[in-house]
Amino acid sequence: MPEQNPFTPTFGAAPPLMVGRDDVIERVLAALRHGPRHPDYTLLLTGRRGTGKTALLDAIEAAARSQGWLSVSATASAPEFSSQLRHELGALAEDLQRDPKTRLASAQALGLGVSWAKDPANPRPPLVELSLRRLLTGITETLTQSAAGAGLLITLDEFHAAEVDGARELAAAIQHVTRREQRPIALVMAALPEVTDTILADMGMTFFHRCARGEIGLLSHDATRTALQVPIGRAGGSIDESALDLATRSSGGYPFMVQLVGDHGWESCADGAKHLAIDDMQEGVYEADQALTDMLLMPLWSALSPTDRDVLRHIAANDGPIEVAALASALGKSPSYINTYRRRLLQAGAVTTPDRGMLDVRDPAMRRWLGGLRPIADLDH
Ligand SMILES: Nc1ncnc2c1ncn2[C@@H]1O[C@H](COP(=O)(O)OP(=O)(O)OP(=O)(O)O)[C@@H](O)[C@H]1O
Ligand SMILES: [Mg+2]
Repeated sequence: MPEQNPFTPTFGAAPPLMVGRDDVIERVLAALRHGPRHPDYTLLLTGRRGTGKTALLDAIEAAARSQGWLSVSATASAPEFSSQLRHELGALAEDLQRDPKTRLASAQALGLGVSWAKDPANPRPPLVELSLRRLLTGITETLTQSAAGAGLLITLDEFHAAEVDGARELAAAIQHVTRREQRPIALVMAALPEVTDTILADMGMTFFHRCARGEIGLLSHDATRTALQVPIGRAGGSIDESALDLATRSSGGYPFMVQLVGDHGWESCADGAKHLAIDDMQEGVYEADQALTDMLLMPLWSALSPTDRDVLRHIAANDGPIEVAALASALGKSPSYINTYRRRLLQAGAVTTPDRGMLDVRDPAMRRWLGGLRPIADLDH
């Protein structure tokens, strides 16, 4: 008997199978092995909504813990994130000091991670009130005495929403402990691309500008196929080749949509043995499109100006990527006029540049939506 629907169309949920991110995870592990001089020891990952940043930070933490590292995770959009981080580090430091050997051994055996962000309503009490810098120094002293090669990984999600004061405090601490004193405290952050206009635009954020960068983008065709096919198989179901093809193409490699398409395809299949056929997947894609439209495409559309929308409609009306020059002549405008809107649409996450001089809609779902799911006239309200 097939099991439950394996897909996870929820932000922040670990996917049933994490695909296409081995490179980034390996990049971090290589940095941890190499030490604080490695550029990726302080890393800022950017990707738009639903590309899998939170899921990836969790996977990076798990990988680090499997190498004997301790980890602390925080969410920068939470109020006063740096004092919350201090409290957690304080608790960890006190535990380590009380009994470093046993504590570290059991922490490593358990794959311990510390996270207050996942339960913000119930943060651990402030056991020690020290500066971030003092705490980090103290933790690394205990660590280097008791476990060679181990360190502490800090992951920080939603960095684009960080308060400036907290970000400055964290920067000063890591700058001192990791960069200057070469202690094993690694930092991996995740943010929306707009981080360049928010926290990074602030004066005095040089530390973060110097962090290595990584882009969390779309999944390849093959990775997407695997992300759909393997969880279905593991849950005791199966999927026809044509249905799998449709699901893969329709999701466009966008991780959130991969989960939506998988989820709705599975639910649309009435067959008790969960053999997903093309009809089930057609229904599934339709449902997934509706869900994505309500959650992401409509809000994106509402934020666009009338001219942005006009340009986007023309891009979507093409079967695939369109040349900027062809777009300009279709709209009867100059290429420099188009360039302004190209920038705005890129910034909004509505389009991509698959090749130089080319533009395409970001999501195939956007093309399907603009192409007729609802009459265009309705969209301007
Ligand atoms: N590598 C992956 N393979 C398959 N599915 C994934 C992958 N990464 C994330 N997902 C799925 O995509 C969805 C979005 O993931 P996640 O919440 O981590 O994105 P995010 O980038 O953190 O989004 P936001 O910017 O809104 O915080 C979730 O349903 C998750 O299970
Ligand atoms: Mg997230």
